[in-house]
Amino acid sequence: MFVRWQDQSETGFGKDVLLAEHDVFKTDLFMDDGLAHLLDVYPRQNLDIWTFGQEGEGVNSALRGRAPKLSGAEIVDAVKRGHIWLNMRRANIDVPDLEPIADAIYGSLEDATGRKTRKRDVSVLISSPKVKVHYHLDIPMVALFQMRGQKRLWMYPRNEAVAPSAFIEDIVHMSREEELPYRKAYDQTATVYDLEPGMGLTWPQFMPHRVENADCLNVSLSCEYQTLSSFVQANAIYTNKLIRRSTPLSPKIGAQVGPFAVAKAAFARAHKAATQKGPRTSPTPVTFELDTQLENCVRELY
Ligand SMILES: [Fe+2]
Repeated sequence: MFVRWQDQSETGFGKDVLLAEHDVFKTDLFMDDGLAHLLDVYPRQNLDIWTFGQEGEGVNSALRGRAPKLSGAEIVDAVKRGHIWLNMRRANIDVPDLEPIADAIYGSLEDATGRKTRKRDVSVLISSPKVKVHYHLDIPMVALFQMRGQKRLWMYPRNEAVAPSAFIEDIVHMSREEELPYRKAYDQTATVYDLEPGMGLTWPQFMPHRVENADCLNVSLSCEYQTLSSFVQANAIYTNKLIRRSTPLSPKIGAQVGPFAVAKAAFARAHKAATQKGPRTSPTPVTFELDTQLENCVRELY
């Protein structure tokens, strides 16, 4: 198994989108039987299941579902036929088959960039033909690796106009999903990547993006991680929200991690320990169940 990052990954890390080549997609794990196996092994109650409406401007909300009774093979069938997006979060912890793959991806990233990767969290994403993941950003760093199918990815340089600091604070505080209001005009600033098996990439923290699947089943690995500086940034932003709430100040995300950000991050750690929030949970309720008897495989619960 190989994963090779582009030259200049060390100097470009945190500033540029970095590309990688890999042969991880050649394993049987991402063929239909392999996916069914992964879904059977993975704790079903942790499986994130989403379906999406038509994309337009503004906020595009998604519906969250469940599939307590289906086999892994039936779920794969539903994703092929429907308009579904599955996320097996922390699959590197729950599914031993993925451990060597996670080690290869993070190990190569550390070697190429000279950064330590902490809080490693590999999500297996399995999604229907033509599914779109709306305009959003992720709080941790992400390395996205394509295993099966093709998809188009739009990456947008972050600034206050396209992703305001206050919105990012709300995402950090789990009071909103990662989706951001989208404007078609943003596309003029985007860089477009056509992903296919064998490609991978990582991008600077908080960089907004959206994804459109080609007309085929897609399987990707979304490998979240934190570097020391991304961890400090995320925690400094947590404190920014507290400052915004209790003072007339309007703090912004800094381009660099300086001593002030480190102090804010230390405060955030203490505040979190005192208020004892659990792991991130979705604010969106479950409103449908996967059902292979229906044409779109989505049965509304209410
Ligand atoms: Fe993302």
